[in-house]
Amino acid sequence: DLPGRVTIWEVGARDGLQNEQSAVPVEVKLEFLDRLADSGLSVLEATSFVHPKWVPQLADAEDLLAGLTRRPDVIYPVLVPNERGLDRALAAGVDHIAIFGSATETFAQRNLNSSLDVQFAMFDPVVTRALEADMSVRGYVSMCFGDPWEGPVPVQQVVEVGRRMLEMGCWQLSLGDTIGVATPGHVEAVLGGFIEAGVDPSMLAVHFHDTYGQALANSLSALYCGVSTIDSSAGGLGGCPYAESATGNLATEDLVWMLDGMGIEHGVDLDKLVATSVWMAERLGRPSPSRVVQALAK
Ligand code: HMG
Ligand code: MG
Repeated sequence: DLPGRVTIWEVGARDGLQNEQSAVPVEVKLEFLDRLADSGLSVLEATSFVHPKWVPQLADAEDLLAGLTRRPDVIYPVLVPNERGLDRALAAGVDHIAIFGSATETFAQRNLNSSLDVQFAMFDPVVTRALEADMSVRGYVSMCFGDPWEGPVPVQQVVEVGRRMLEMGCWQLSLGDTIGVATPGHVEAVLGGFIEAGVDPSMLAVHFHDTYGQALANSLSALYCGVSTIDSSAGGLGGCPYAESATGNLATEDLVWMLDGMGIEHGVDLDKLVATSVWMAERLGRPSPSRVVQALAK
């Protein structure tokens, strides 16, 4: 059965901007977040407390949180890789964090300077301390559908990594197609692997990149598997600086258009969102790759 309502997990300010060539001023990021909230989005992933040398685009995380006017009906999760990141997030008054693990050895090395097992040792105290501080902890699993260095990733390997993150105390897993190679049947197989392992679809979210134009089809496949949280980025911004060939995320506008047509609720005002992506595209100096933004932009 299809869900009657979908939660859109907007990652534009984080995944969208972490790969930008030019530095986006913190004032522009703050206006972006405000405009996204105005369009009705209720989850705005704001930034990452990662090493500023690894991701200079998000080195302004403290300034961003300090300048943010938080709305009562919006949550602003941030990415946290280790205890140093957690200390920074706690000092900034953050309530919701996400750890981000890799399903493959090579990407754990490239993205976290770590190994598969060492990444868990790094996350363990983060999750324990975050839960003690009444934070919620989401778990990303990257490279669930393919890895640029290792190629195809076995479903059981993905399920194993995801289950370890749930056992640590993550309330939800976001299954990432970091490089955008997934196709709908593959999505069914990976989600099926989790469901067979006893994980309820309500604990799963999907995170698609649109490298091969499959992100929307993959999202539909996930909806049919019972998933009702979908990650996307306004205007299709994004990519991961540590993953070769990672392009933009599924565009939030493309997702909203599909959900509208299917009568599935989401709470977003599409016109306001398109206007925001057009505004952001002007700031970044290039047009949005989203087909829906292009069709509706005035
Ligand atoms: P490292 O260099 O191995 O860190 O990086 P370390 O533990 O060896 O520490 C070295 C120095 O860095 C120390 O300082 C630490 O204090 C400092 P020193 O004592 O030498 O002066 N340090 C920090 N400073 C600030 N904030 C911190 C922090 N941690 C250590 N958090 C580390 C390891 C994990 C930090 C690094 O690899 C890193 O920051 N990686 C983040 C990479 C990243 O953000 N990637 C993009 C997000 S993932 C993604 O996009 C995929 C996703 O969208 C889903 C999908 O598409 O699949 C989520
Ligand atoms: Mg991503």
